[in-house]
Amino acid sequence: MSARQADVVALDGDGIGPEVNAVARALADAAARHDGLQIRWQERHVGGISIDEYGTALHDDVLADCHAADAVLLGAVGGPRWDTTDPEAPRPEQGLLGLREGLGLYANLRPVKPWHSLRAASPLREERIEGTDLLVVRELTGGLYFGERARVDDRAYDTCVYSRGEVERVARRGFEAAQGRRRKVTSVDKANVLESSRLWREVVHEVAGDYPDVELEDMLVDNAAMQLVSRPASFDVIVTENMFGDILSDEAAMITGSIGLLASASLGDGGRGLYEPVHGSAPDIAGQGVANPIAACLSAAMMLRYSLGSPAGADRIEGAVDHVIENGPIPRDLGGAATTTDISAALLAALEEPELPAP
Ligand code: IPM
Ligand code: MG
Repeated sequence: MSARQADVVALDGDGIGPEVNAVARALADAAARHDGLQIRWQERHVGGISIDEYGTALHDDVLADCHAADAVLLGAVGGPRWDTTDPEAPRPEQGLLGLREGLGLYANLRPVKPWHSLRAASPLREERIEGTDLLVVRELTGGLYFGERARVDDRAYDTCVYSRGEVERVARRGFEAAQGRRRKVTSVDKANVLESSRLWREVVHEVAGDYPDVELEDMLVDNAAMQLVSRPASFDVIVTENMFGDILSDEAAMITGSIGLLASASLGDGGRGLYEPVHGSAPDIAGQGVANPIAACLSAAMMLRYSLGSPAGADRIEGAVDHVIENGPIPRDLGGAATTTDISAALLAALEEPELPAP
């Protein structure tokens, strides 16, 4: 019998992107194989490397390839080489934003669940992080990131615009996710100041009517930033607009001890998704072989679960990650000395452990 096949575009990107994505791809291949699935990879460029090659951070052909694929696995984009404040110059981040917008990926899922053995790695006290298991659902194709912006003489502006439809579809994602979890949604806004937040709040409350089994609370973003460090375990699903979600998810990452552990899925209406670690391209350690590939591997697990129809493969990767986190080797960002290759070898070995869930 021939294996099921899936087409995935690998966008390794810049900095540590290629280093962590190589591990994630090897792990995804191994996990998929156990589940009778074969992944066909297409390697393409995005970000700084694409600027060097094509003069733009996202080439139309690359976007078209992503459209045609089942999923996209992205490493990271950006680096000092392409840093500029010139509004006319291309920026690596435009590649990422172009993919999110071009593929219609309006919901970004970022789960945060600290591992018991890493509780000392978090800057927060153990008793505070105990029991934390939250999911940030960040709106990804609207708000300040995509509003009209300009520089006019000595002034500059960015606009935050949301339509009812944009709020409604991401709110539904949040409520649906909550139904499979602890049935609580915290909608984060700044409704005491921003008109876009008042619309946000109104629409989220309307949508909540369709999910009577889910509790809804509103929280102002400044308060949410505080509650995330004072009582993180009280959150289940946080639904919020693009910029607030960007900031709060980095903050939430530190509950686990390192941003090197946080994965994300960006989803639209169909099954296609883009999967990437929450961390950036880390140019300070790029090329040294010491990057922590775990966030990339967990992103690959989300890809198997949400886009490639292989929840068993996803469980297998997550099981291997749990095993390595509990037993070592420990990467540098968590206080250890293991290299990317050490972690990769340990993950691949753990993935083959017989006690892991059978496909
Ligand atoms: C993220 C990143 C991106 C964002 C950058 C690289 C454009 O910080 O995915 O959180 O701000 O969305
Ligand atoms: Mg960010």
